[in-house]
Amino acid sequence: MKNLLEIRNLKITTLRGRETVHLLNQVDLDIRKKCSFGIVGESGCGKSITANAVLGLLPYPLRVSEGSIRYESKNDEMDLLSLDAKALRAVRGREISMIFQEPMTSLDPIFTVEMQMFEALSFHHPEMSRSAMRERALEMLHRVNIPRPEQTLASYPHQLSGGQLQRIMIAIALINDPRLLLADEPTTALDVTIQAQILRLMNDLKEQNDTSIVMITHDLGVIAETCEEVAVFYAGQIVEQADVAAIFHETAHPYTHGLLQAVTSLGGAERKLYTIPGIVPPGGQWSRGCRFADRCSRCMEKCKEMMPALTEVSPGHRCRCFLHSEEAES
Ligand SMILES: Nc1ncnc2c1ncn2[C@@H]1O[C@H](COP(=O)(O)OP(=O)(O)O)[C@@H](O)[C@H]1O
Ligand code: SF4
Ligand SMILES: [Mg+2]
Repeated sequence: MKNLLEIRNLKITTLRGRETVHLLNQVDLDIRKKCSFGIVGESGCGKSITANAVLGLLPYPLRVSEGSIRYESKNDEMDLLSLDAKALRAVRGREISMIFQEPMTSLDPIFTVEMQMFEALSFHHPEMSRSAMRERALEMLHRVNIPRPEQTLASYPHQLSGGQLQRIMIAIALINDPRLLLADEPTTALDVTIQAQILRLMNDLKEQNDTSIVMITHDLGVIAETCEEVAVFYAGQIVEQADVAAIFHETAHPYTHGLLQAVTSLGGAERKLYTIPGIVPPGGQWSRGCRFADRCSRCMEKCKEMMPALTEVSPGHRCRCFLHSEEAES
């Protein structure tokens, strides 16, 4: 395989009563080895369900109805969608790890940090001795810049700050040297200073290890800090994809323009935060034309009738908009 992860024509559906509702269509993504890849879009655009699908974590009745997710593991190549529960557990945490927005939802309040780090280790390395686990846990806490690792190991989650908890989550996610880290809004719940520290930490860790990172965020500012490539999601589709420089300097899609304005107006406190007018349509309730049409200031007649295809505007830069190509989805 050329890439670490290859998602092809991913479709995710759910059930509302007896009706099948489409939540995600036609998503193709290539995550290269040792790359940091961003997925950006407003809330409800399908970022989390895409990441959850990779690790077989979609809650019923959500399911992958079409497509493939191929992954190149340490030893061989596999289709993650065809793995059974046991095989998936062997991949999770060992090959592919995930961190979430709220560290408290992933850490168990009744166990110490040490117990939780030991559990993550012993699940994949049952042969490991307690002293070896302790050494590894301390090493990981050092790597994520936890000031008093020994003391932290003995702490319970409620004794630690949000920033420390997120560092510990990162330490646990990386404790078995995974090749891919899926980070779903890892800094959204943190205040701005701590957010910057965590993003810097993730960049450092990526440099030190051979880990690829998929950074999921609603904030293009976070992408600018951390990623090399980015896919912009809107209403369950990719609407633009390119390397980060092109997304910022040769922005093609009106939706990406909107997201960018939301970032650049962050500067002054007195300035009103820009938000794109309107809302993301709920899953499946999309018009037959361009899904962004009712929010787009450049909407044309044909945009309401036909769905633009995702086409290349320059090598490696794809966009789904009639301003850049006449091509429509059939
Ligand atoms: N458990 C669920 N049950 C039903 N619909 C869901 C569930 N989780 C997500 N969805 C729907 O799937 C779509 C994509 O959601 P999600 O991936 O969470 O968005 P994002 O992470 O981009 O904010 C939304 O329309 C959301 O309402
Ligand atoms: S296809 Fe039309 S409505 Fe959709 S983003 Fe482009 S200009 Fe706007
Ligand atoms: Mg989400």
